Amino acid sequence: TKDWNGIDQVVLRNSQGASARVSLHGAQVISWRNDRGEELLFTTSKAIFKSPKAMRGGISICFPQFGNCHALEQHGFARNKNWKIEDNPPPLHPKDSFGISFVDLLLKPVEEDLKFWPHRFEFRLRVSLTSNGNLVLISRIRNISWKPFSFSLAYHTHFSVSDISEVRIEGLETLDYLDNLSQRERFTEQGDALTFESEASLLPHPNIDRVYLSSPKCVAVLDHEKKRTYVIRKEGLPDMVVWNPWEKKSKAMADFGDEEYKQMLCVNAAAIEKNITLKPGEEWTGRVELAAVPSSFCCDE
Ligand code: BG6
Repeated sequence: TKDWNGIDQVVLRNSQGASARVSLHGAQVISWRNDRGEELLFTTSKAIFKSPKAMRGGISICFPQFGNCHALEQHGFARNKNWKIEDNPPPLHPKDSFGISFVDLLLKPVEEDLKFWPHRFEFRLRVSLTSNGNLVLISRIRNISWKPFSFSLAYHTHFSVSDISEVRIEGLETLDYLDNLSQRERFTEQGDALTFESEASLLPHPNIDRVYLSSPKCVAVLDHEKKRTYVIRKEGLPDMVVWNPWEKKSKAMADFGDEEYKQMLCVNAAAIEKNITLKPGEEWTGRVELAAVPSSFCCDE
């Protein structure tokens, strides 16, 4: 099928009725539904469908930077580019070669792109839907130039939640985090699971935008009201970003409804604090697996 700009989308389905939809624009996952047809990813109702900008929602790929530290656009260019489907990518590790329903996408810079980021690379992304409806994203980034380069990366994941005040994140307690709202100053999280009860609970800032460092491989987002837990399992991605714009910032964003912050939470598996450096010929792999399960889940299971 095609998206708003006539760009191709790929629909993945498993035999249980779960599905995922991936746009070739940005390799963005724009929908992920469970076997009951319930949408698990948030997309703003005010989405601006105008290429090349990424639409706000789903899962977008932030590469080669997360944030706006360098002269590049915020969160890098990968989410604003058209990716290609690759029919015969180099084989994946056997554990990742399960083949229910997947698509392989490829991004390579063209000459024009090298003016902004002068590094030749191949970025391969496989998006898979497993037989039990989990969504797996595997990134392989290869340096095909003659000099090393460094990057940061995040899977900018907007989870759909019933009400932000009913949600808690388990797995980030007691960790150090960089606060994006205080020039990435370093703080330490309290001993309790992270909750978002009120604006006051987020103080000193009226919203939350943090990079949790060296987080565990499994982090859970519990939605008490929906009795649903999102389980995020990651490899090669030490950090976890938590973002909710809350009231004031929501109103300031043109492509976001004033009240929509209540129905979404971004929890992004990422590699940010320590840049990843690739020598010529080297390849890096980062993997995230998302599951949506009944709420009694715990990461030790
Ligand atoms: C979050 C960042 O992941 O993405 C925030 O932590 C940022 O700092 C947000 O504001 C949205 O970014 P953008 O570029 O999609 O508006």
